[in-house]
Amino acid sequence: MVSINSSVFNFPEIKRVLLLLEKKDRVKLFLVLVVNTFLAFLDLFGVALIGITSAILIRGLQGLTAGDQVSRFLELLNLDELPQRNILILLGTTAIFFFVLKTVLSVYFLRRTLRYMSIRNAQISSSLVSKMLNRPVEKIFNKSIQNQIYNVTGGVERLVGGAVTNLVVIASDVVLLLVIILGLMLVDPLTSVGTFFVFTGIAFLLYFLLHKRVSILNSKFAYESIYFNQKVSEGINSFRDLFIKGGREFYVNEIRKTKMKLAGYDAEIKFIPNISKYTIEISVILGIALIAGIQFYLFDSNRAIAVISVFLAASTRIAPAIIRLQQNIILVKSSLSAAQPTFELIDELNGIKELETTETLITTSHRDFAPRVNLKNLKFKYTDAINETIQDISLEISEGKFIAFVGPSGGGKSTLVDLVLGLLAPSSGSISISGLTPVDAIKKWPGSIGYVPQDVFIENSTVKENICLGFNPELVADDLIWQALEHADLSDFVRGLEGQLSYRISDSGKNLSGGQRQRLGIARALLTKPKIVIFDEATSALDAETENRVSESILKLTGECTVIFIAHRLSVVRSADMIYYIDKGRIVNQGTFDELRSINADFNNQANFMGI
Ligand SMILES: Nc1ncnc2c1ncn2[C@@H]1O[C@H](COP(=O)(O)OP(=O)(O)OP(=O)(O)O)[C@@H](O)[C@H]1O
Ligand SMILES: [Mg+2]
Repeated sequence: MVSINSSVFNFPEIKRVLLLLEKKDRVKLFLVLVVNTFLAFLDLFGVALIGITSAILIRGLQGLTAGDQVSRFLELLNLDELPQRNILILLGTTAIFFFVLKTVLSVYFLRRTLRYMSIRNAQISSSLVSKMLNRPVEKIFNKSIQNQIYNVTGGVERLVGGAVTNLVVIASDVVLLLVIILGLMLVDPLTSVGTFFVFTGIAFLLYFLLHKRVSILNSKFAYESIYFNQKVSEGINSFRDLFIKGGREFYVNEIRKTKMKLAGYDAEIKFIPNISKYTIEISVILGIALIAGIQFYLFDSNRAIAVISVFLAASTRIAPAIIRLQQNIILVKSSLSAAQPTFELIDELNGIKELETTETLITTSHRDFAPRVNLKNLKFKYTDAINETIQDISLEISEGKFIAFVGPSGGGKSTLVDLVLGLLAPSSGSISISGLTPVDAIKKWPGSIGYVPQDVFIENSTVKENICLGFNPELVADDLIWQALEHADLSDFVRGLEGQLSYRISDSGKNLSGGQRQRLGIARALLTKPKIVIFDEATSALDAETENRVSESILKLTGECTVIFIAHRLSVVRSADMIYYIDKGRIVNQGTFDELRSINADFNNQANFMGI
């Protein structure tokens, strides 16, 4: 799983990151680089002026030799006639002005760039989420929730904030260094070239020694963090089981071990950039000492001092730039490694479009929608399954009928329903609802189909928000909610809650009973007054009396509304117009309750067991 790109610089990945940005973003990044080049020149002017000022300070105007660089500079600006004091004040203040201007502009552009990057970060995250949710249901659940959360949050942050932002800083620092080194060449070519090679040599050596370790650490850190989050959330979700088994300690130990591993990686990841920082700091000091030694040895002390002062001024700019450069290269590398899971997601989402941004408005009219369902030679196989889960099913459900799917566990009932709802795409055959494919029908008549899944999902929000799930609750009248609650036999319960519709349901409905959660699911499905309602074991947690009330209330809907019921408790489906007995992905038998009883021994046995 942990694949590390061990090349010195992963250009293909850098290219991929840049391609994540739109063209106009890349143009903007280029402009940032141009601005930074301009700022680098401001820096250079500042350094040069400091050099000249110190040369004059040390040697005095009289000490200058006609024709040397400093004298030529003064002549050029017509300053050679001015008194020394004025020249010094003029040059010194101009240098300070350049430095201050450069810093102020840098701060301004840095703020803008960071803000811009944060916005891009948010846009890329949202776009990935949008694409993620525009896939078939099978793909949605193929990775743990924690993995998916990391991919669209931390992972994207590492790509944009870590990789792209730092690439810009790297490019700017390279420009700054080149400009300063070029400037220094005018003062002393040999020393400049020497300085350049020594520092870049050290920086690259460090990078070469450290980059692989940094990549491995970051990639491990990313996967281990996902695992850690997964364990914490599993620990909370399985609290009951763990508590009763006495298994909480084992879980906490697992979590502790993972966190300790993470701590180890984290400490090393944080320390590594310091190795280069201190090495380069020492190199700068030694480098200046070396330059000083060579200058004093080869030239007279006046010239040596002038050159050293220019290099000192330059090194206040060069050293931080080299340290930043080196650290940022490592950061880019580590960000790319930590974003590995996000790259995997991006690959998976390749070619998938984003969902449209217009939100669906609630409607209960569903004009022209005909609640008819047609399945023709339907086949379906899960990607990782050996055999087809649905093997050649054809059936026709006409308007206003009450239909039931029954059969043994694992027979394919829920899968069939997922296909009818367009949550899964058939391997072959066709499905039509009101003459369209399920996806198109849902798009054309949102809310015309209601569905209560086997496990009802409960949002961490109010009763109203839970029932409105997917619609803006502010646009839904309370009346409509109460009607749905009434149908689901839940209105009395909600009336007794503090705040009623605004009562807050805790995480995944922990403060509701199993049956209340199911009825909330039913109310949610009935909110839009759908014309087709599909119940997948939606009443299994209810007592017989409540189940009876709920199913009677639902069956009152038939006539205008087509009801498809999956049930193990056969009492509910007794009055169905047609019951399909599904086993191993096929319709084994079909008929009314009594017909099925006479032709299917298993069905008959089950009915007998239940005393029907
Ligand atoms: N995401 C999946 N990937 C692979 N196989 C799956 C997946 N979901 C279900 N299956 C398999 O498909 C088969 C049919 O499952 P399905 O959930 O449709 O059965 P069911 O008839 O609804 O059973 P139950 O009555 O227990 O709810 C089972 O063997 C199941 O293991
Ligand atoms: Mg099922």
